[in-house]
Amino acid sequence: MVQRRIAWAGLLLLLLLALAACAPPGQQAVSGELNLLCTPQVEWCEGMKAEFEAKYPTITVNFVRMSSGESLTRLRNEKDNPQFDIWWGGPIDSFVAAKQEGLLEKYETKSQDKIINKDLMLDADKYWVGIYVGSLGFATNTTSGITPPTSWDDLLQPDLKGQVMVAHPSSSGTSYTALCTVLQLRGEEAGWDYLRQYAGQVNQFTKSGAAPARFTGQGEAAVGIVFSHDIVAQIEAGLPLALTFPAEGTGYEIGGMGIIKGAKNLAAAKLWYDWALQPETQELGPKYKAYQAPTVEGAKASRPELLEANLIDYDFEWCGSHKKEFIDRFTNEIAGAANLKE
Ligand code: G6P
Repeated sequence: MVQRRIAWAGLLLLLLLALAACAPPGQQAVSGELNLLCTPQVEWCEGMKAEFEAKYPTITVNFVRMSSGESLTRLRNEKDNPQFDIWWGGPIDSFVAAKQEGLLEKYETKSQDKIINKDLMLDADKYWVGIYVGSLGFATNTTSGITPPTSWDDLLQPDLKGQVMVAHPSSSGTSYTALCTVLQLRGEEAGWDYLRQYAGQVNQFTKSGAAPARFTGQGEAAVGIVFSHDIVAQIEAGLPLALTFPAEGTGYEIGGMGIIKGAKNLAAAKLWYDWALQPETQELGPKYKAYQAPTVEGAKASRPELLEANLIDYDFEWCGSHKKEFIDRFTNEIAGAANLKE
């Protein structure tokens, strides 16, 4: 009996040694947990958790899905005792702000070599990196009788009073991208004036950026302002939506990723970071209804036409460093953030 136990223990030891040997050269086998702050749509977060755990069976991923603004607030509040190890997804404006506030951990790795446009998609100091790209569009309910808007001014037409839906920029990175797009297109003075009028057209602000595509498709509004890939996902799901872009220019996001300063599971966070920059990983998106474009060489975009819209030269550093100021101004002077829908 005792001999048999010793034999089992020996076998177990051998197995563990074999597992350790499977770790890539220079890396030790990592086991334990990874606490992921996940900002893209929940289906993609769930899919990525399952894919990562299949590749690294000794690591359990615990994730929470939160919009960009909520995530940033959470990270600020947890600064002295961080609960998350890595933040994956959501426009980089928030990562620029997070870096400035000392909430991110620098990470230099060979995986960053594959980034297709390092000037734009990789922080010069390596605190954040781009993991996807997506353009902002308009979703129109095709049964509403409204002609799909093709300019920002079209959103102000009297027929759309109380018929526009968008998230609130305090919680949502999507909505902040729209806000900062307008300020860049029109200049600050005219931009704020436009934003006041545009907010007057909104029937209800939502918490999450993608939600207005679904609500518009369900007939709760005539037009939603949402990232185009999220509109495509709802069209694929069968909702009666038409996708259009403002001809004079639309904003776009680079979805970001960064390790949290003081991460308790740093080794696992680095594994996720490197894995998320592999072309095979970035090509997983469409499997989970995520049609953003990849940021690394060797990964094919599922919907390249979404980036063929007239994209403005969006200044992520400017929008990121003014994020708090612009959101406070929008919330205090234009529309408060109480009672947001979903
Ligand atoms: C959706 C989009 C992502 C985007 C994210 C931002 O999930 O698919 O591309 O990064 O929204 O979320 P938020 O709720 O902050 O607008």
